Amino acid sequence: MTDRLRVARPPVAELHVHLEGTLEPAFIIETAGENGIDLPWRSLEHLEAQYDFTDLQSFLDLLYVNLEVLRDADDFAAVTHRYLARASAAGVRHAEIFFDIQAHTRRGIPAETVIGGIRSALDRGLTDHGMTTKLIMSFWRDLPPGDAMDALAHVLDAGLPIDGIGLDSAEVGYPPSLFVEVYRMARDAGLHVVAHAGEEGPAEYVREALDLLHVERVDHGIRSLEDPDLVERLVRDRVPLTVCPLSNVRLRTVDTMADHPLPRMLELGLLVSVNSDDPAYFGGYLDANFDAVVTQFGLDAGAVEQLARNSVDSAFLDPVGRARLH
Ligand code: HPA
Ligand code: ZN
Repeated sequence: MTDRLRVARPPVAELHVHLEGTLEPAFIIETAGENGIDLPWRSLEHLEAQYDFTDLQSFLDLLYVNLEVLRDADDFAAVTHRYLARASAAGVRHAEIFFDIQAHTRRGIPAETVIGGIRSALDRGLTDHGMTTKLIMSFWRDLPPGDAMDALAHVLDAGLPIDGIGLDSAEVGYPPSLFVEVYRMARDAGLHVVAHAGEEGPAEYVREALDLLHVERVDHGIRSLEDPDLVERLVRDRVPLTVCPLSNVRLRTVDTMADHPLPRMLELGLLVSVNSDDPAYFGGYLDANFDAVVTQFGLDAGAVEQLARNSVDSAFLDPVGRARLH
């Protein structure tokens, strides 16, 4: 019996998953064929041989090539639909999903196509799986902030349905302070705001995300532990941190799972949840991430319950939606 079955998991929310990171190798090869896209991979095996990462950038290089297979609204709907089915099987009852807008618009794909395709599948997810969802438009922080401003202005002007904004891609050298105006515009429009910080970047970036961008949640945030005053603040203010254990090991932000700070974060009283980040790239969906930490740290049912409860408490749910999952 697997640990996943031994430790029954209560309803859980997934709050840190990139839609482009759910593209499975077989789907990439198949969709490239259908759309006539010339990928650098000779075969499925050749593609599968690329998944050995040395750091965040080495992963992003592969992610950004592969996502080019997505072309029309049906492609965006198909990948979303597949994620929701797989996440539902993993026990996810509510998902807040990132997509990287510039990854698509820079290839000439309109935001309307991207968001329209994803939304149609999210609507089906509620009927097919009873799963509630939120959609978070993420910006590449290594592109000029003006580019993010333009993308956000367009989505707001066109009234396209997103629930929040995020910040991802290469972190070091691209501090949150660059994006103050973008985040102000999003908050003024009533959107939720989150940002990746403290994955490869320093604890100072987590502080900036809180103080300058006024984020409601920090994605990753594991390097916050290097700053005790910051930890105290995160605990006091119950700032959610969306932690991604398999991602951290595969991108070598931690050496091995045994070195992962998740148990310490729980002990410190941080509001941490477990998430899959880019499940098709890092060895598994939410169930695999739970399995990995339960097995590595011998987490008991109480700790698993706490992580699941944290995920629901960290979600952008209204009281009715939250009560459904508690
Ligand atoms: N960090 C930064 N950018 C990303 C990630 C991540 O974990 N996943 C997809 N884009
Ligand atoms: Zn991420």
